[in-house]
Amino acid sequence: MAIILAIESSCDETAAAILKDKKELLANVVSTQIATHKLYGGVVPELASRMHVENISYVIKEALAKAEVTMEQIDAIAVTRGPGLIGSLHVGMQAAKTLAYAFDKPLIGVHHIAGHIYANQLVSELKFPLMALVVSGGHTELVYMRDHLQFEIIGTTLDDAIGEAYDKVGRVIHVPYPGGPEIDRLAKHGKPIYPLPRPLDDDTYNFSYSGLKSAVINLVHKMDQRHEEVNKEDLSCSFQEAALGILVSKTLRAAKAYDVKQVIVAGGVSANSKLRADLTTAFEKEPIELILPPLWCCTDNAAMIAMAGSYMYDQKCFADLKLSARPSLVL
Ligand code: KG4
Ligand code: ZN
Repeated sequence: MAIILAIESSCDETAAAILKDKKELLANVVSTQIATHKLYGGVVPELASRMHVENISYVIKEALAKAEVTMEQIDAIAVTRGPGLIGSLHVGMQAAKTLAYAFDKPLIGVHHIAGHIYANQLVSELKFPLMALVVSGGHTELVYMRDHLQFEIIGTTLDDAIGEAYDKVGRVIHVPYPGGPEIDRLAKHGKPIYPLPRPLDDDTYNFSYSGLKSAVINLVHKMDQRHEEVNKEDLSCSFQEAALGILVSKTLRAAKAYDVKQVIVAGGVSANSKLRADLTTAFEKEPIELILPPLWCCTDNAAMIAMAGSYMYDQKCFADLKLSARPSLVL
């Protein structure tokens, strides 16, 4: 039983949340910087760190006010340690360490992807063994979990992450950053008429998206040179057809091979409507439970860090004040 204050600042959202006894989410405050980064077509790391510095105190203050708890009532402070942008991570890390020191509270360093996985626990009970499909701006992974906090990466991307491919394709067809939600929306009105390569369809659990991403970029450049108009809806649809099929088939194969009770999806790309629909269809006739997190906890937030942090609290996984941010932290 514990009240956890969590801080997340790994990329372009400044977030704080307060979770009581793993059950009651007393506050979940997210201040997004998307409107600013949109002007530059992607996240500008220098701007991101500066905005985290400007916002973090207000976000924490608002979380405490919403939850109607004082710092004295908090049992521990959880913070995203990595992976992420180093300048961004530092801001949350320093805020968490300052509070831990000033109020003499245990400090918990959480892996960002563990947070995305535990976002599912905010809405339904995790059942082990499980397979997590992690799809975000920086990750494309299949993670096998025998029990709480035991992560085994059985497959990963050999190059680009799926979210990164979405955002690059978005950039080349001139849709606002981040490309993922826009491509998701456009694809609904398109047809898969553009021929694109299928990414790494082999018998491993690994993924590869740089070939598909380059194929889209080359196609658009060639059409530009020929003064042909790209149909954004058809290209979005074609890209998604190529990108998502392999995620679904490898997840299904992994879930069966590891004989799991549950499959969960984590990270920003889990908000994608086609991925959600295709996974639902694929698992409909399987004796495996599929959990799709609701949209509010798919993208970066601190509630997920609070949930992962709560399990680490139970296991007394505390850090000392030497804890540092790790941009390439391994799960
Ligand atoms: O998990 P997240 O918020 O941040 C990282 O940890 O990376 O994921 C952000 C990624 C971005 O690449 C964004 O384009 C993608 O998630 N995304 C989507 C959708 N919503 C967000 N991709 C496809 N379809 C969506 N609906
Ligand atoms: Zn994330």
